[in-house]
Amino acid sequence: MKDITEREFTELVGFVKQTYGINLLHKKTLVCGRLNNYIVQSGFQSFSEYFSHVKSDHTGKSGVILVNKLTTNHTYFLREPQHFEFLERVILPYYAANEARKKDLRVWSAGCSTGEEPYTLAILINSYFGVKKYGWDTKILATDISTVVLEQAQKAVYASTQLEKLPERWREQYFTKIDAESSIVKDSIRQEVIFRRFNLMNEMFPFKKKFHLIFCRNVMIYFDAETKVKLINRFYDHMEPGGYLFIGHSESINRHESNYQFVAPAIYRKV
Ligand SMILES: C[S@@+](CC[C@H](N)C(=O)[O-])C[C@H]1O[C@@H](n2cnc3c(N)ncnc32)[C@H](O)[C@@H]1O
Repeated sequence: MKDITEREFTELVGFVKQTYGINLLHKKTLVCGRLNNYIVQSGFQSFSEYFSHVKSDHTGKSGVILVNKLTTNHTYFLREPQHFEFLERVILPYYAANEARKKDLRVWSAGCSTGEEPYTLAILINSYFGVKKYGWDTKILATDISTVVLEQAQKAVYASTQLEKLPERWREQYFTKIDAESSIVKDSIRQEVIFRRFNLMNEMFPFKKKFHLIFCRNVMIYFDAETKVKLINRFYDHMEPGGYLFIGHSESINRHESNYQFVAPAIYRKV
């Protein structure tokens, strides 16, 4: 098969940006590396032929395969631990006191990948509340565009090496060993997380209630500035007053881009 032409690359970049918000403009090597074999094995003669197939597949299945191949899903338990420390020290005590009547804490892990982030949150929240958790609804909505990562997340099986950084009491209390190499998250935690496929580029957020906490960490790095600002403002509209937005430590929100107020590195608040 011939290398991707400039025209084909430009067309692909435009499509992926418009549909998924992901900016591949400077990622030609990544695109070719991840798609070449798949295109040849699937029997397409050129990028154009493959690409026409993706665009004309109204079931959306080919688009899902394309995005599964192009997204980077790297994640791990307790990633960016300062966030969890702040959550435990400042935010959970605040809500435990202020939402005590409604006992409702709505958390969204947007771009949850293989589940380590929402499971870390569920474990932390459960271990914070302990026996006082009774009566509280602290379910976590965990969404991603990639069906591959969501399937893995729902299985909730992780290699023992992936759990090494977790506190020992968490490993003992919230995981069951399957064998020497792997463990599964316990049902009590799994039932706290609801996984759904959702494209953050959707203009409409189909959520009935607003969120208290939104984690969208290491997702917007793939988006261009305009897409990122629009998404941040949509998060703002779907957040309860006083709610917190967490982004990745390598990301930032400028003051003029939204009404969010900076509270700590990579943590913003709707005041
Ligand atoms: C690097 S992972 C971040 C995982 C986790 N939040 C963390 O910080 O470790 C980025 C995730 O964003 C997802 N993603 C990228 N574009 C998306 C979009 N338009 N809508 C929803 N999820 C998207 C990818 O599929 C990937 O799983």
